[in-house]
Amino acid sequence: MQGARSVWVSIAWRAPLCCAVLIGATTTGCTSEVSFSRDVLPIFHEHCLSCHRPGESGYETSGFSVEGYADIMQGTRYGAVVFPGYSYASTLQVLVEHKADQTINMPQGQLKLSPQQIETIGKWIDQGAKNN
Ligand code: HEC
Repeated sequence: MQGARSVWVSIAWRAPLCCAVLIGATTTGCTSEVSFSRDVLPIFHEHCLSCHRPGESGYETSGFSVEGYADIMQGTRYGAVVFPGYSYASTLQVLVEHKADQTINMPQGQLKLSPQQIETIGKWIDQGAKNN
């Protein structure tokens, strides 16, 4: 019985610890899944849509619209800017991180998305760029 008791004691000890670690991870965002409609699309609509829809400069020059999921995944007239699973290789991510040529950083001009917004977009791409 000695063995069984010490196993129980060690589980009893660890269960709350595991919970604490899990809750910590979820609230700090380590394991949370980014939602396209809730987290990502509003960023594009607020900061990009004014130029990236039919009739506006960004769309007319590049063919890139941010109106909806399908538009974003379609990319520019030269091809995709989002490669699901690979934020570092996605043109979209490179542009919003301002790692591209000065003249094509997005949003255009001095504006830049916040670090949190950039992280959200990166996570969304790394989690598969889902339409969730
Ligand atoms: C003030 C207008 C404006 C805003 C705001 C803007 N863009 Fe642009 N965007 C442009 C223009 C103009 C181009 C074409 C640039 C060029 O080809 O020289 C462009 C091009 C692009 C391209 C294509 C780059 C390429 O490969 O040639 C992407 C992708 C892009 N924008 C993403 C975004 C995203 C994402 C946002 C919001 C975070 C954004 N843009 C905000 C005007 C804007």
